[in-house]
Amino acid sequence: MSAYPTHVRLVEVGPRDGLQNEARILPLETKLELITRLAQAGLSTIETTSFVSPKKIPQMADATALFTQLRRKPDVSYPVLVPNLQGLDAAIAAGVQDICLFTAVSERFCERNIHCSIAESIQRFKAIMTHKPKDVRVRGYISCVIACPYEGPEAPEKTLALTEQLLALGCYEVSLGDTIGVGTPGQVAPLLDTLLARIPSKKLAVHFHDTYGQALANILRSISYGISTVDSSVGGLGGCPYADGATGNVATEDVVYMLHGMGIDTGVDLKQLIDISWFINQALGRVPRSKTAIALAPKDVP
Ligand code: HMG
Ligand code: MG
Repeated sequence: MSAYPTHVRLVEVGPRDGLQNEARILPLETKLELITRLAQAGLSTIETTSFVSPKKIPQMADATALFTQLRRKPDVSYPVLVPNLQGLDAAIAAGVQDICLFTAVSERFCERNIHCSIAESIQRFKAIMTHKPKDVRVRGYISCVIACPYEGPEAPEKTLALTEQLLALGCYEVSLGDTIGVGTPGQVAPLLDTLLARIPSKKLAVHFHDTYGQALANILRSISYGISTVDSSVGGLGGCPYADGATGNVATEDVVYMLHGMGIDTGVDLKQLIDISWFINQALGRVPRSKTAIALAPKDVP
């Protein structure tokens, strides 16, 4: 019998992680169409934007307008990134119900990304947990779980300790980010061995950037451990402004193609996803990075 889950929940991060590093600022209408079409294609969790400093992440400067104008489906959750109380207040005023806190296992990355130490980030999260409305759900992110662009490889024990802290704060799950996409199944396995000795698999998600083309292999390894929540980005968009050279997240359509081929349900319509991948990449002036999107390219693409 397969150890794989029968259903994998995909967390679509394209509108946020996918776009945050793009120099070309997309019109609000394009972003709204992207999110609306992703929901129609069956994605049940779509990370929409970030309530962060517009000076740091100019692409997310329209967070309030985007969230207030978005026509939300009742059965879909639309999380946003929130770094501090200022972001929380803005998100709540816009009607947000799901937020994501984000920190890193590496001090230097944390400092560059959110301008504070890891310990200070936890203090910020405690304040957010105290101030947020009770019914607002909170996801945690940890960056650099395999390696940091400034510090090199990171020990799994550090990620374990931080994951336990985020769960104790009240996060319903923690997403493990290979921010620079350097990991292979050779590093993912000991990381998950360490975490799953103490934490149930349903509390963990995986978030692989695909810089070295290892993301699908890493996802396969992760789901063989019973992990059933996987982050991905339509068209393979993505990158982090504080992780030079890191490319996009694993493409959602590549993950869907692999999982469906294994008989694992995602609830996502692959054909619609391919059309969306071409739509958003054309809006950015390029073709998708996804091999599946290229192999199944719609007939009308030039
Ligand atoms: P800071 O400089 O420490 O904050 O920034 P501050 O309190 O000193 O304020 C400085 C200025 O920022 C002020 O404006 C504040 O109003 C403003 P000024 O007076 O100079 O005009 N400010 C804000 N504006 C809007 N929304 C806010 C906010 N907070 C302060 N919430 C801060 C701290 C975290 C805000 C900043 O460093 C920042 O925005 N960083 C960007 C972080 C980010 O979005 N990174 C990318 C996402 S994380 C990621 O991609 C990794 C992930 O995908 C997982 C993985 O792959 O590993 C999740
Ligand atoms: Mg990321």
